[in-house]
This record gives sequence, C-alpha cells and structure tokens, in this order.
Amino acid sequence: MGNRGHLSATARIRAYATIRRRRILFPVKSCLVRCKPTSHSSSFGTWRKGPAEAKRWSTIKTTLPRLPPHSERKTTTTGRLTLRPLQNDSHDLAALHALRTDEKVMRWSPRGRVDANLKETYVHDLEFLADPSLNSEHLAYAICLKSNGEFIGYGGLSCRPEFVGWPAVSFVIKSDLWGQGYATEFLEGFVDMWRRLPRKLAVIRVLVNTVYGDSEIKDECLAGNPTYDNVACHRVLEKSGFEKREEFDEYNHRRKKKERRHGWVMKKSNAHFLEEQLSALQITGCN
Ligand SMILES: CC(C)(COP(=O)(O)OP(=O)(O)OC[C@H]1O[C@@H](n2cnc3c(N)ncnc32)[C@H](O)[C@@H]1OP(=O)(O)O)[C@@H](O)C(=O)NCCC(=O)NCCS
Repeated sequence: MGNRGHLSATARIRAYATIRRRRILFPVKSCLVRCKPTSHSSSFGTWRKGPAEAKRWSTIKTTLPRLPPHSERKTTTTGRLTLRPLQNDSHDLAALHALRTDEKVMRWSPRGRVDANLKETYVHDLEFLADPSLNSEHLAYAICLKSNGEFIGYGGLSCRPEFVGWPAVSFVIKSDLWGQGYATEFLEGFVDMWRRLPRKLAVIRVLVNTVYGDSEIKDECLAGNPTYDNVACHRVLEKSGFEKREEFDEYNHRRKKKERRHGWVMKKSNAHFLEEQLSALQITGCN
C-alpha cells in the first residue's frame, strides 16, 4: 500500500493502537491510570487541542465494552434479520465488494468513492479480522435476511475514540433495500448486544456535551457521527433513541476538505457495572 502515498487501513489501525496504548486509554481492573491529554487521533486526521476547543473536552472515568475475541462473538436475531460476525472469507468479501462498489452507498463513505478492486475492499473491511490484536477494537457484523440468509449490509462498532471520544457505531444497507426499516432494525438489535457486552473501567476524553451521570463513574455512551447532510443516517439514529449532542467540523484527509458532522449518543447506565463491583466487594468483605 506504500506506493499509494498513504497508510493502509491495517497500518493506520496498528499505528492508532500504539498511540492509544501509550497515551489515550488505559483500561484497568482495580485501579485507574491517568493519561496525558494530548492531541486526538482519528483516521480522518489529528485534532489538536486548540484554545477554542479546550473547554469542550472532559477527561472522565467511565466504562467501555470489553470485546470478546472474534471466535467467541455471538450471532443474534431481530424480527427480520440475522446479525452475525463478519467472516474473513470469499463470501463476505464478495458481498462487501458489491456494497462498496455501489455509488449511492459510497457517496456517504469517508473516502467518497467506490472501491477500485477487491483488494481495496479486503484491506478496508476484512484484513483486520485476521489479526486478533487489531480486531480487538472492532465489532463488525454482517446484516443478513433471516428468511434466506442474504447479506444485505454490514455494521458495527469501533472503539477508537474518533470524533466525540466515545466508541462509535456505523452501518450500511444495500441501496435497493433502503427505506424499509432495515438499518433501524439492525441498530436496535446491535445496541441490545452492545448493552450486554462485558465492561471494563476506563479513563477517556470525550466532548463535554456527551457526559451524563452524577456519580464519579459517568454513564457510558455509544456514538454515531454522520456528516450533517446524511439525513437517512440521522433519522435512523433518532428513531433508535440516540440524542444529538454535538456539531463539529472535522478535516477529512481523504476528501481533502472540512466536513460538518453531528455527534449523536446513546446512553448506557453504569448502574449494572456498579452493582457488579459492589457485589464483588461484598464477597471479598465476607471472607
Ligand atoms: C443510512 C442507511 C444505512 C439507512 O438505511 P435504511 O435501511 O434505509 O434505514 P431505515 O429504513 O431504517 O430508515 C431510514 C429513515 O431515513 C428517512 N430518510 C431517508 N432519506 C431521507 C431523506 N433524504 N430525507 C428525509 N428522510 C429520509 C427514511 O424515510 C426513514 O425514516 P422513516 O422511517 O421515518 O420514514 C442507508 O441509507 C445507507 O446504507 N446509506 C449509506 C451508508 C451510510 O450513510 N451509513 C451511515 C453512516 S454511519
């Protein structure tokens, strides 16, 4: 990929993972390690914490999902859909490539153009599945029709703290099936799955308007960050119970321009996590 003059998806994720391990997020079991607030990296570029932005960020204690290894990820169903972990195989590659060569779909992608060939699709969406260390920050699901197993889209979660700082969800549906409620159904099923993932305690930096909760450990959020003009995506997030909390401009290096994005978040109460901690403490205390 080096001859293209930019990093491959894998290289970006790997570079990101190093940055993140070093200074952004330190998940812990029993103690918290504070990180140095610095610049905020994303695949779209780097946010420098400038004077105007300084007030907008807050470093908080919260919970984050602990993603299971790929082999242990579960399939789930909704009324019409089967959501199954994306597979690094020729079937899923062909289905992803069909989606990623549809101009109507790719108009909304960060790159803004269709994939040139199968390799580009593989590098963008499947290569990371082959590397457990890269895969550990992504939960990628195929969206299939329950009736006949047809692959109609994909979506998932990236735990990289892009845009508003929280892990973010994204989703794509085949364009000939738009407007039939499939993305909304996917998102509701996916959020349910997200809520039930095991949790870890973490210190992260998020936009102030996305901080909820009165206790020391703030409520965890899941974000969606569409560009301002992606009306269908805004509507899906709204219908699924997300709240619009932020608007911000982000430089997109692939399109070489600034883009206005909206930050939507779905809140997860930390009550369950706190109960688990309390119960663990009581057991220790009794012994
Ligand atoms: C965004 C996307 C996943 C939505 O999929 P979908 O299955 O059509 O979504 P749903 O049918 O569940 O809901 C779409 C809603 O947006 C509305 N909508 C779509 N286009 C609209 C427009 N131009 N103006 C107003 N509302 C619009 C639909 O009417 C529907 O709302 P309703 O149920 O209140 O009528 C699909 O358009 C897509 O794959 N887009 C390209 C990839 C993308 O942008 N993904 C989002 C980035 S995270």
